[in-house]
Amino acid sequence: MRHHLSEEETAQFNEVILPYLSHPAVQKMKDYCAHGSVSVLQHSMNVAKTAYRLDLFFGKRSDLKILLPGAILHDFYLYDWHDRPLSFRIFKMHGYTHPFEASKNAAEVFQANEQIREVIRCHMWPLTLTSIPRHREAVLVCIADKLCALKETILR
Ligand SMILES: [Fe+2]
Ligand SMILES: [Fe+2]
Repeated sequence: MRHHLSEEETAQFNEVILPYLSHPAVQKMKDYCAHGSVSVLQHSMNVAKTAYRLDLFFGKRSDLKILLPGAILHDFYLYDWHDRPLSFRIFKMHGYTHPFEASKNAAEVFQANEQIREVIRCHMWPLTLTSIPRHREAVLVCIADKLCALKETILR
């Protein structure tokens, strides 16, 4: 997978991502931590860039208006799960429930369409057994999330 993006690819990425990135609700994800010292916003940007690179590598066939909003909003759950009750943490409830929480927030704040919401809902598969990624964009975000989580956890 290519690490360096061309000027045109960077411009294309920014054009889709900036309206989301500049929104105060998305900026709030800075306040929550994802893995180690990485904020949810930083993690979400890592996932968006990785999903974009994966798409370029695998033939550029994704709809970027689904892939990139889905990636930047995939963890748009807006709470710090470390502050949740003990039961919530012990049974890893967060892992199962946050894709649905994020999907609901994406619809409320950005009127995200069903395809974007599918990307968000399915990103934790196979943990969420019945939310299976069926479209290219959802598969790429699901893979990108796992690659980034691994990298952020190991390299902290
Ligand atoms: Fe997640
Ligand atoms: Fe994630």
